[in-house]
Amino acid sequence: MEKIVVKKEEIYKGNLILVNRENDIKEKIKENNLKPFDKEYSDILLENNANIELQKALNHIKSENKIVPVSGYRTLEEQKEIYQTSLKENGEKFTKQYVAYPNCSEHQTGLAIDLGLNQENIDFIRPSFPYTGICQEFRNIATKYGFIERYTKNKENITKISSEEWHFRYVGYPHSEIMKQNNQCLEEYIKYLEKFEYGKSVLSYKDYEISYMKIEEDFNEIFIKENEIIDISGNNIDGIIITKRRKR
Ligand code: DAL
Ligand code: ZN
Repeated sequence: MEKIVVKKEEIYKGNLILVNRENDIKEKIKENNLKPFDKEYSDILLENNANIELQKALNHIKSENKIVPVSGYRTLEEQKEIYQTSLKENGEKFTKQYVAYPNCSEHQTGLAIDLGLNQENIDFIRPSFPYTGICQEFRNIATKYGFIERYTKNKENITKISSEEWHFRYVGYPHSEIMKQNNQCLEEYIKYLEKFEYGKSVLSYKDYEISYMKIEEDFNEIFIKENEIIDISGNNIDGIIITKRRKR
């Protein structure tokens, strides 16, 4: 049995952080965790692991260049500029629907990617990513690689962002898969996980056991058995999500 001590700052880091208007970014991603999408799109950066999984997903459907990255990591300054430019060009209603308020954008985490069907004149804010053909093929397998379609039509009242067919968020497997099966958006899933309080209850899925721990102090102990692999992510609100996988 091994012991890990988790500090309060972990609340604001990791694949499962909920970033929206109510929960802004507290912890900036470290630059050495960001990697270019590929050589051709070297100015589009993504969190390293998210990028590895994205490339696997695109290879799986043999996308080649049929799907292209449109927007990945953004700095706070870039998000401010996109917001201000959109206000001027598209007005307030449109901007609130399609551009997250500065410091409340998943793009600032490095975990979000806007994808577009490769064609002439790709719209930067709303690229085309239809529910047909290769784009739908990507959508169908995305959760296997830890990605979710973050802003869907039926969750607009919860996410407060209009349907964005092109915006994918890395949350990591198996969370992506469970969310899909439960038809939950990230706001709902994070809330749902509170039921599985560490030490009392777990959400079991295949080889995984998931639980939530509220973090109030700077010293929190987690125990791992020898046959377990652990991943910890904050929820960006008040606690952490502990994902344990049994080694086979
Ligand atoms: N388009 C999404 C909501 C963003 O700006 O982060
Ligand atoms: Zn986006």
